[in-house]
Formats: sequence, C-alpha cells, structure tokens
Amino acid sequence: MSQSLATVSYIGATILFILCLGGLSNQETARRGNLYGMVGMGIAVLATVFGPQVSSSAYAWIIAAMLIGANIGLYAARTVQMTQMPELVALMHSMVGLAAMFVGFANYIDPAASAHLSGAEHSIHDVEIYVGILIGAVTFSGSIVAFGKLSGKISGNPLILPARQGLNLLGLLVVVFCGWLFLHTDSTSAGVMYLIVMTIVALAFGVHMVMAIGGADMPVVVSMLNSYSGWAAAATGFMLSNDLLIVTGALVGSSGAILSYIMCAAMNRHFLSVISGGFGTSGGTPAAGDGQPAGEVQPILAQETAELLLDAKNVIIIPGYGMAVAQAQHTVYEITRLLRDKGVNVRFGIHPVAGRMPGHMNVLLAEAKVPYDIVLEMDELNEDFPKTDVAMVIGANDIVNPGAQDDPNSPIAGMPVLEAWKAATSIVMKRSMASGYAGVDNPLFYKDNNRMLFGDAKKMLDEVLVAMKA
Ligand code: TAP
Repeated sequence: MSQSLATVSYIGATILFILCLGGLSNQETARRGNLYGMVGMGIAVLATVFGPQVSSSAYAWIIAAMLIGANIGLYAARTVQMTQMPELVALMHSMVGLAAMFVGFANYIDPAASAHLSGAEHSIHDVEIYVGILIGAVTFSGSIVAFGKLSGKISGNPLILPARQGLNLLGLLVVVFCGWLFLHTDSTSAGVMYLIVMTIVALAFGVHMVMAIGGADMPVVVSMLNSYSGWAAAATGFMLSNDLLIVTGALVGSSGAILSYIMCAAMNRHFLSVISGGFGTSGGTPAAGDGQPAGEVQPILAQETAELLLDAKNVIIIPGYGMAVAQAQHTVYEITRLLRDKGVNVRFGIHPVAGRMPGHMNVLLAEAKVPYDIVLEMDELNEDFPKTDVAMVIGANDIVNPGAQDDPNSPIAGMPVLEAWKAATSIVMKRSMASGYAGVDNPLFYKDNNRMLFGDAKKMLDEVLVAMKA
C-alpha cells in the first residue's frame, strides 16, 4: 500500500473514531457508534499492516499474533458477565500500558529508529520514549491492581502507607533525575539502565497509587487509567511517527479524562481527592457510621405493591446495582408494559453512577427492550417526584439516600441523588437492611411514606407481576 493511500485510510479511520464517540453518547445511536468504531479499527489495522512501514516478511508474525489476540478477545467477550465488565476493561488497559513500555524499549534499542535524527529532534525522540514508557508503566501496574481489586483478588480497602506522599515525592525525584541522565548520555547501555530504573519506580508508583484507593472510587480510577492508556498510546504514536495512533490516543485520553470528571461530579467527589485515595471499602460493607438500622421500617407484600402500582397514574422506577445482580430487568420490562397498557405514565430515573459502571442501567434496560424515551437522566425527572404516585426503587440504595442532602457528615454528603422520598409512596426493593456501596445507612427506609419489599428483586418482581395479572 502506498504512503498516500495509508494516509487517506488513517484520516478515514480517525473520522470514524470521532463518529463512534459521538454515537456512544446516546443509547439510541450507541449501536451505530459501535459499528463506526469497529469499521474504523478494521481500516486502521489493515492500513497499518499493509502500509509502507511494515515489510512483507513480518506478515507471518503479525497474522499469528492477530489470531492469538482475536481468539483471546472473542473468548473474553463471550464469557465475561456484564458485572465483570469494569475488571475486563482494567485488564485491557494494562495491555495498552505494557505495549507502550515494550515499544518504548524496542524503539530506544533499535539503532534504525533514530539513525536519521540529530540535535533537538533526537532529544525530542528520547523524551517521547521516556514519557511513553513512564505513562505505560504506571498504566500497566495501576490497571493490574485495579483488575485485582475489582475482581476481589485484592482487598478493596484502601492501603494507606505511612509517609506515602513522601514516597511519591521521592519516586518523582528519581524519575526526573533519571530522565535528566537519560537525555544526557550517549551510551545506549547506560540509557537502558536509566530507563529500567525509571520503569521500576513507575511500576511501583502505579501499584501504590491504586492500592491507596477505596472500592467506591474504583470506577473513577478505571476511567482515569483508561485516560492514561490513551496518553500512553499517543506517546507510542509519537515514537513511531504514527499519526493515527497519536490522534486515537488523544481521543481515548481526553474522553477518559472527561468521563472521570463526570463521574466525580456525580459522586460529588473531587478528582484530586479520589487520586489521593483512602475513601470507600470493598463494597457492601459499612465504611462509615455504625452501619446499624436507625429506625423502624414498614414492610409491604408483593400483592399490595401490585395494587399500589395499578392504582397509580405516575410511576418512576429507579433501578440500581441490585437489579443487575438479580437480573430482574426483563420482569421490570413486563411490569412496565402492563402498566403502560393500562395508561399509567411509567418512567425510569437513571443516576449517573447507578450500578457499578457508567451506563450500567441503560445497558440492562436496553437489553430488556425498555423504550429509550421513558429512560431519563436524574436531572430530567428529579423535580417530578412530588407529582409521582409511586417511586419504585429496585436494588438501589446510595443513589436514593436523602442523607446525601441532609447530613453534612455523611461520606456521600453533597452527592446528587434521586429524590424518591418526595413521591406520595416510595417502595424499596432489596433483600435486607444492608448498606449499599458507600456503606452508609439510608434514612429513606424509615420515612413514613416508604415501604420495604424485602427479597431478591427478580423473585419479588415476578410475584408483583403475577399479582398484577390476577
Ligand atoms: P448500592 O448503593 O450499592 O445498593 C445496591 C443495593 O442492592 C444494596 O443495598 C443491596 O441490598 C441491593 N441488592 C443486592 N442484590 C440484590 C438482589 N439480588 N435483589 C434485590 N436487591 C439487591 O447501588 P446503587 O444505589 O446502584 O448505587 C451505586 C453505588 O455504587 C454508588 O455508591 C456509586 O458511587 C457506586 N459505584 C458506582 C459505579 C458506577 S460508575 N456506576 C461503580 C462503582 C461504584 P441487599 O443486600 O439488602 O439486597
């Protein structure tokens, strides 16, 4: 393939990647967005493999590597559960980091890679290598630890070492000093040694940084590592003078950073305090407070729930992590359909961090074929709760906690929440009085207008559906 055809293909792939990101911003266009991304990636791979920088003698290696990689990818995509998606994503980020490290070292050792460079150009090339390996190493080790924490192989509790900021500062000084030595040496073996020292420090920093972060903040960290993996890819693109890799890396890097920001805003957490760590637990166990129920609750039966729903004119359903665990989305859809057929106005209220990953609830509801136009963001319907007859909370907890507004000492104080308690009646569906991810008690449960429907969400909703049909 000629250089000009490769360039045109790269531009086409870049446009498709941008269209892909645009499509993914809305669930109605997400499928199309994914398709753009797949076609763009196909073009990018073909243009690179058959481009002028790859000699035909390498094809056998590339095809073998692609076959192995594609099979691993297919296996992972087929077997991974939706709830395991964040850990799979973390593992994939680690691969990007590892690739950036390998490319950096190979690029430095290969004399042909910089033979045509001199003076400032050579120095810039060395900086690209150094920065690429640095970001790659932090991404690699940080993502491995994130994977371990999300999959429960490593405790989700934050590990706070004494003098940790001092350790980080020391690491930073070593990295800067090695960088200075690296840029001023003419010996390749000395340069490799400085790179190895920096890599070890960067790997340790990645482990240290993510180990200090608590379970509740892990999604933000995964998104941040996603951003790092993008910048690592962009740095690799600079090393290899590959424009497509630079642009793609920048797209991933900036979109990951924006997603981290949005998630921090939804949890009312400052990005820097997330990175400095120490918040949250492995999940489901109390992190703060005594975790004891603070009042009397009023249980309700499935039959009564069905009657309340059938008598209602306006219903808001608030799904949370428990709906995903119980896989109750299909029954939720059946109930929704039945109510809508009877003229009830049913809408879904989606909190930006409901569940355990961005868009978790949207994906489940889309899978169950719930119409998109009744699935609304928190901000779109929060003010409608006072006009709502029944707010049905399905396996959600933190995202409907009034303590976030009323209790300045709550660990989730200031986090925006769905104001389910403002409906005429709220019904909370969960198995026990256990806390949610943030480990705090929920005053909603004790409100006069709240009822608790205890049990597995799927089982209880099946009972409600049977009662509604009877
Ligand atoms: P949570 O606050 O974690 O509450 C989920 C509730 O579901 C639990 O209290 C649990 O109570 C109940 N539950 C679990 N299994 C159930 C089942 N089979 N049937 C019925 N109920 C079940 O979830 P949420 O309200 O969705 O809030 C999300 C939380 O996770 C926030 O704190 C958020 O910051 C955090 N977080 C979000 C993300 C993203 S990006 N979405 C990622 C990680 C963490 P029982 O045990 O009593 O049943």
